[in-house]
Amino acid sequence: MKIERFDNDEVLASTLATRLIDAIFLNPRLVLGLPTGRTPVALYRELRWHSQRGHADWSQVRTFNLDEFVGLGAGDPGSYRSYMQAALFDHVRMTPEQIGMLDGRAPNLAAECARYERAIAQAGGIDLQILGIGANGHIGFNEPGDTLEAETHVAELRAETRRANAGWFGGDTTRVPSHALSMGLATILRAREIVLMATGAGKQDAVAGLVNGQLTPRLPASFLQLHPRVTAMLDRGAAQRLA
Ligand code: GLP
Repeated sequence: MKIERFDNDEVLASTLATRLIDAIFLNPRLVLGLPTGRTPVALYRELRWHSQRGHADWSQVRTFNLDEFVGLGAGDPGSYRSYMQAALFDHVRMTPEQIGMLDGRAPNLAAECARYERAIAQAGGIDLQILGIGANGHIGFNEPGDTLEAETHVAELRAETRRANAGWFGGDTTRVPSHALSMGLATILRAREIVLMATGAGKQDAVAGLVNGQLTPRLPASFLQLHPRVTAMLDRGAAQRLA
């Protein structure tokens, strides 16, 4: 795993944004896997800045988001769909057909997960998957536990994950849905390249396990060690426990 350290999260975000703009220039049909959460907020702001200045042509790019809350859709401010519209999709030249998102309101969630796997495969697979990481070592909504799911699935959220997401629901943990749809570990590991972003001291234990820990479903991100092309982009806080 390649480790890159940055003085702060702003430099990290602007570096990654520039790389993404370059990647789209080199491959206008890039298939991108995208995360949500607090960590990539600065990345999306940088991408908007570049896009408003014509630095990137999004008209052939495909995107697939990692996850979505069960029961929430486009009209719900807490949905990842709403997050993504505001953070990126409303600001770049993309048609709905280019945007892959799980539908948390689908009547048949298992069928929705299967549809998503097919859509990713039909797009030719994900070229570059951007990831955040939960303080408990989750990626997407692949939570720590006795077992992990390989493919896109319905996930039950752990209490700490619901607390960590409460900020998107007016600080009220009880309003955070109990379940989500998420790409599985195999879905993520099939990406040709992976970049994981982690910022803040709250992520230092998860990052230590990601980089140096044994592979364990207790820290789902540890399985990224199996992938040949992973870069972990870290600020000082997140890198604290690395030598
Ligand atoms: C959320 C998301 C993840 C995200 C992680 C970290 O629950 N499902 O995709 O990477 O938790 O979030 P944050 O960046 O807000 O710390």
